[in-house]
Amino acid sequence: MCGIVGYIGDRDACPILIKGLRRLEYRGYDSAGVALVGGDGSLNVYKCKGKIDALEHFLADKDTAGTVGIAHTRWATHGEPNDTNAHPHFSADGRIAMIHNGIIENYRVLKDALTAAGVTFRSETDSEVLVNLIEYVRDTEGCTLEEAVRLALKKVVGAYAIAVVEKGNNDKIIAARQSSPMAIGVGKGEYFISSDASSIVEYTHDIVYVEDGEIAVIERGKPLQLVTLDNEEAEYRVTKLDISISDLEKGGYPTFMLKEINEQPRTIVDCIRGRVNADSGRVILSGIRDNIDRWLAARRVVFVACGTSWHASLIGKQLFENICRIPAEVEYASEFRYRNPVLFPDDIVIAVSQSGETADTLAAISLARKAGAFVYGICNVIGSSIARATDSGTYVHVGPEIGVASTKAFTGQVTVMAMMALAIAERKGTVSKEYYDEVAQGLLSLPEKLKEVLELSGQVADLAKIFTYAHNFIYLGRGYNYPTALEGALKLKEISYIHAEGYPAAEMKHGPIALIDAEMPTVAIVTPDVTYEKTLSNIEEVKARGGKVIAVMAKGDATVPGITDYVIEVPAVIDCLMPIIVSVPLQLLAYYIAVYKGRNVDQPRNLAKSVTVE
Ligand code: G6P
Repeated sequence: MCGIVGYIGDRDACPILIKGLRRLEYRGYDSAGVALVGGDGSLNVYKCKGKIDALEHFLADKDTAGTVGIAHTRWATHGEPNDTNAHPHFSADGRIAMIHNGIIENYRVLKDALTAAGVTFRSETDSEVLVNLIEYVRDTEGCTLEEAVRLALKKVVGAYAIAVVEKGNNDKIIAARQSSPMAIGVGKGEYFISSDASSIVEYTHDIVYVEDGEIAVIERGKPLQLVTLDNEEAEYRVTKLDISISDLEKGGYPTFMLKEINEQPRTIVDCIRGRVNADSGRVILSGIRDNIDRWLAARRVVFVACGTSWHASLIGKQLFENICRIPAEVEYASEFRYRNPVLFPDDIVIAVSQSGETADTLAAISLARKAGAFVYGICNVIGSSIARATDSGTYVHVGPEIGVASTKAFTGQVTVMAMMALAIAERKGTVSKEYYDEVAQGLLSLPEKLKEVLELSGQVADLAKIFTYAHNFIYLGRGYNYPTALEGALKLKEISYIHAEGYPAAEMKHGPIALIDAEMPTVAIVTPDVTYEKTLSNIEEVKARGGKVIAVMAKGDATVPGITDYVIEVPAVIDCLMPIIVSVPLQLLAYYIAVYKGRNVDQPRNLAKSVTVE
């Protein structure tokens, strides 16, 4: 949600900043801008509505000289996406430029006070209030830029990652963070700032994560310095980031989403590597092993998550209840954080997040920790805020996910949850050896089965062509595949803008059945499990009302083709792992429908990949 980048060093800053913005465009693409400090101390700010392409075009005939600069790609919160509301923002006298990711919650009070002091504003943004506050403090206190930033931030309530430069000073960038991600890349005689460390790996793998309440003083030719809001020196650690540039490129695919869908056989291998032993079939996760007493004593697990991660958590609930016999609840992090939930010291809160930066999930973690619960993270992004805020955890290890619609992270999250459930169940003795082995072997078989599923791409694309006309879709599933139906519907909504609802198949007759007609297709997931026969009846109910049904069924099922209009035949695996298989054709269906509708699948309207505001 908004991407920020910065550079200071010997190279031309502008091309580095633009490249960085392109890597961060998944965080928002309403407008973009850069501020450059030239060798003569001039401060040039260029910004415009639209994507990075528009900014690059705008910059073509501008003076972009300078070895210091900051840049921003925006996901609008306060004020519509237009040139004026784009970042960087200036202070009223044009001396200070700032980029901001986050929300200044008390901006109205601050704006009133600054207006009373004679400050005039150009934009409707909360960010412009902050840059003017910094200038006001600088003028009234007569202090350094870093001191002005520190004193101004002490008056701010909200979330921010900011970077600030000043006219006449091409040796310094001041950056700060509270609840919005910020990484500083340390190169040879140069520094890089980014909302997402992976965006700067082509320059350096040495990363410093700025923590909440810290201000970074980044000066040319000097060691990096971090101070707290109370002006105390903060210690920091340089972490090595293990990502290669090819992970960040499309690798010959037209979109990141298609690349990420197709990567799933490999990402599941990466996810289970070193965790499910291919010879013994035993599952070992250090996060479970090292905290086994807590897991064995857990009264309950509470999943907190948003979006696709919330859907994965609904599957996690069933895995934990069925396999480990631990009661499980699933909460929207945004609801949980404001609900005064009942938490016991022997509860385990599991925070699930691809990005590890979702603001609501972070807030839910801090609430859970205050209540004394042990918090376990299931994150994909290594070193992310959630990974660092949790007591322990398991990384999903599916590599950077750049397409806004989550795909490989979902299948990875469910895989992690299944491994966790097995590792706990083995110690709790809640499953038989046969069942344990079947799930473990099922996990090991996933990569080959996913390859088979991907061979259906052409068939799914043909189906998508038939259904591109639809304005509404319903997705039905039961048991483990009810959340898969929710996730399938979400994928379609996100990237094609077709309205879609996911529903537990039997519940359909309590409302959505009224919507069924020849115009509204139903996607029914009907794979072997305890509700198989029941789901067949639910499909008959749709057919009896003239509905068109696309079924996702297990290979070789002779019954389903006879009662449905179209079938997608996927290889079967034990029921608790079936969502990992079934979700892939649903991702492809949404993908191709969106493509046929001419949508930008990697950058769907109004969405952002990482939601760092609440
Ligand atoms: C956004 C993304 C979704 C994602 C959700 C939660 O809405 O567009 O794809 O599922 O945030 O994000 P997280 O990173 O916490 O899993």
